[in-house]
Amino acid sequence: MEYAPYSMDDKEAARDTLPDPLLKKDGSYVTTPFEWHNFQRSYILDMLKKYEYGEILPRPDEMSFQLLNCRQGALGGKAVRKEVRITCSMLDGRSHSFKILIYLPANASGPVPAFLGLNFKGNQNTTVEKDVIPTGYRFPGVLVDEGSGVQHHRWIPEEIVARNYATVTCCYHDIFPDRADGIGDSVAKLFFTPAEYGKFGEKYSVIGAWAWGLSRIMDYLELDPDIDSSRVAVHGHSRLGKTSLWAGAVDTRYKMVISNDSGCGGGALHKRKFGENLSQHFQHHINMGYPSWFVNEAERFIYKEEELPIDQHELLAMIAPRPLAVGTATEDRAADPKGEFLACKAASQVYKLYGSCGLTVDEMPGPDIHCAGDISFHYRTGKHDHTPQDWGYYLDLADKYL
Ligand code: GCU
Repeated sequence: MEYAPYSMDDKEAARDTLPDPLLKKDGSYVTTPFEWHNFQRSYILDMLKKYEYGEILPRPDEMSFQLLNCRQGALGGKAVRKEVRITCSMLDGRSHSFKILIYLPANASGPVPAFLGLNFKGNQNTTVEKDVIPTGYRFPGVLVDEGSGVQHHRWIPEEIVARNYATVTCCYHDIFPDRADGIGDSVAKLFFTPAEYGKFGEKYSVIGAWAWGLSRIMDYLELDPDIDSSRVAVHGHSRLGKTSLWAGAVDTRYKMVISNDSGCGGGALHKRKFGENLSQHFQHHINMGYPSWFVNEAERFIYKEEELPIDQHELLAMIAPRPLAVGTATEDRAADPKGEFLACKAASQVYKLYGSCGLTVDEMPGPDIHCAGDISFHYRTGKHDHTPQDWGYYLDLADKYL
């Protein structure tokens, strides 16, 4: 089979009808938030599990938290920095731990709302501070990047604390290393024996494991007196934007969900058949040394997206009625920004059940217009990245919603 993306000509995009999230199994329609919340939502969530993201891994038998470091006067006096080790263990002695980095505003007078997201290159690369504990092991014992500060622009912790929010992060490799044979060094080892690793993808996904890690960090945040855990926004960029959406779907403790440039398997509609498709997530990724990020079942729909019983607007609808922000970029064409816009539009009908309009506009906006609302959308000028401009929009939303 050839693994190629779809055309990026909008005229060639498919015009398939999308499954209606309000259509019930018996052919009638959901008309109340009660029915959505108590019945329909879990019916769709089960399909999202089955066809894309898998079951939710259980909680570990035990968890412990160790404060490794607490530094006043961080970020030139603007912040307090904490680094915490989270250990998840099973009664039979298996355990897995990962370290999180937290910046708090220096002069907070009480618990603060927080942004929580996974990073690609280790906690040390989200900041300019050089003495952060290095994390991020794609391969055992080998840091993915020693600390060039290369992804600081994606995190700008000094700006976030200046707006009176905490920022919390952990490297995704430390939850599930993003390599083809990463499972033995991942959280999955708590629940699977080596002989069972090959079966992981039958029921679970790597994206699901990353989302599980976010939930465990949330467990910690609920106990941290410096954080107001009822006001946490989960966010992520690209594959980690796919992850933040799934995290927001399965864990309703997040008050707001942000997906930045998440594309295929994130905010973009599969059935539009535009740009990247599921083929890239299977053979192509595996050839590049990545695991497939979805359940095995998803592979069945490569080039047959019209047969998928669900689509990504239904993932977005899982966030309702909580605020959802979807950011896209003009040069990130393969991720199909318009497909993300259309998904937001189609998810809005679920927000409408709650008396919200969801998305506030009907037509895809031009670049750099922030369509702020219960579902927010923007189309930033520039490449596939999470920039300070994106942060500006997300921080404004947090001011309103957190
Ligand atoms: C690959 C992948 C995308 C993903 C991106 C990223 O390009 O095909 O779907 O969003 O990596 O995570 O950076």
